[in-house]
This record gives sequence, C-alpha cells and structure tokens, in this order.
Amino acid sequence: MAERTTLIAGNWKMNASGEMAVTLIDGLVAWPGKDGVEMLVCPPFPYLGPVGALISESDIKLGAQTCHANASGAHTGDVAAEMLADLGCSYVIVGHSERRADHGETDADVCAKAEAALRAGLTAIVCVGETEAERDAGKTLDIVGSQVANSVPEGATAENLVVAYEPVWAIGTGRTPTSDEVQEVHAAIRAGLASRFGDATANGVRLLYGGSMKPSNAQELLALADVDGGLIGGASLKAEDFTAIADAAP
Ligand code: PGA
Repeated sequence: MAERTTLIAGNWKMNASGEMAVTLIDGLVAWPGKDGVEMLVCPPFPYLGPVGALISESDIKLGAQTCHANASGAHTGDVAAEMLADLGCSYVIVGHSERRADHGETDADVCAKAEAALRAGLTAIVCVGETEAERDAGKTLDIVGSQVANSVPEGATAENLVVAYEPVWAIGTGRTPTSDEVQEVHAAIRAGLASRFGDATANGVRLLYGGSMKPSNAQELLALADVDGGLIGGASLKAEDFTAIADAAP
C-alpha cells in the first residue's frame, strides 16, 4: 500500500479572535510534532495573514475554508484561490456540508472550486457526507459515491486532492459512525477514485474522517486502513485536544 502522510486538519469554522488565534497557535507550535503526521490549520479568512505569520517558523500548514471558482473579478465578498496561495495557504477546504447547506453549493459548484484550487497550486480538501435521513434510508454509499464522482475535478492527483468524509449528522453532535461504517465508506471512496484515476492515484489520495473527532475516539478512527487523517472542528479550537488527536495517529 502507498505510504500516506497523516493529515490532521483543523477547521476553525467561524470561530476566532486575534487573542484566541495567538493562544491557540502558541499551543500548536509548542507541539513537538510526530513522524508521518502533517498538521494543518484553517482559520477564517481575516486571520489567514496573522496565523500564517505565527506559524511561519513551524511545520504547521495553512489552509482556508472555501474559495471562489474564478481567479478575480466582480464577486463582492468572495476570495480567489490565487489570493489564498498568495497568503501562504497550501490547502483549501471545498464543499463542506455547512457551505452546501448555508450557501446552496452543489457538486458542480464544489467541483469548480476544487478546480480553482488546483489552478492556484493548492491542495483541495473536498468534503462529502450523507445526512441522517440518507443513512437511515440505506443510501450512504450512493450519496457519497455520487458526491465524490461529481465534486472531484478531472485534474486531481494524489498530491492535490484530499477527500474528507463527514457524515452531516456527526458534525458537532458528539455522535460518530462505528469504525466499521467509517472504513466501509472510506474503502468505497477509494474504490470510486481508483475506477476514475487508477490505483496508483487512488492509493495515494488521503481520505480524512470528520465529525466529532476528539482525543477519546481519534486513535480508533485514525487506525482504520483507509482513514489517513481527520478534519476536526470543535476539538481543533483547543491546542491540547488538537495535539492529542495528532499524537493519536498510528
Ligand atoms: P466537528 O466538525 O469536529 O466539530 O464535528 C467537523 C467539521 O465540520 O469539519
């Protein structure tokens, strides 16, 4: 199997202040690091510059939470992937379920944003995941499979694509699927990528689990064969919890 570097990604969502960012990053830069583990923080847009400066002497990577599909133009309030790259980002999350729900982002929109990320030299973290009703109806693999098929752009490679599986009902709820359920979905995502991009690419793409990942469940989730890291919301806001998750990587 391909060696995949574990990615521990913090999605701060709309949570930050100047003071909070300094305290949190102070705690993260003090983390000694771990072989084979890459740490990423994704603060809100206004904090990208300051957080980028705070982590500049460390190995911690910087990412954003969304981007616009276009490189520039009359799109008030939007931010281009090129601007994120210019600010020192190496990753951008696209298609988070909160963006899909709050901003009506479709798979086609997400695909265009992921394409923009690739165009700008960023790695796109494409998010997918079923709702509780979809899981109860036994449609999880269909829904996730079609989201991956339609949200991942043609130019994806093992280097510029990460897929995050985040069951909508597990986000911020304290509930998670069982390990078997997570592994089943991740294996299906990898198989879908393999049928489109070939085994070598599919085996190199990192697949993150997201949704109520915390220090107490991280070890079990991160040990799963097709789980290559986590996309962490709530528990990424406390340095102690976020670094404990990173330390739980196998
Ligand atoms: P959570 O959020 O860890 O707070 O459940 C994860 C996410 O939405 O990325």
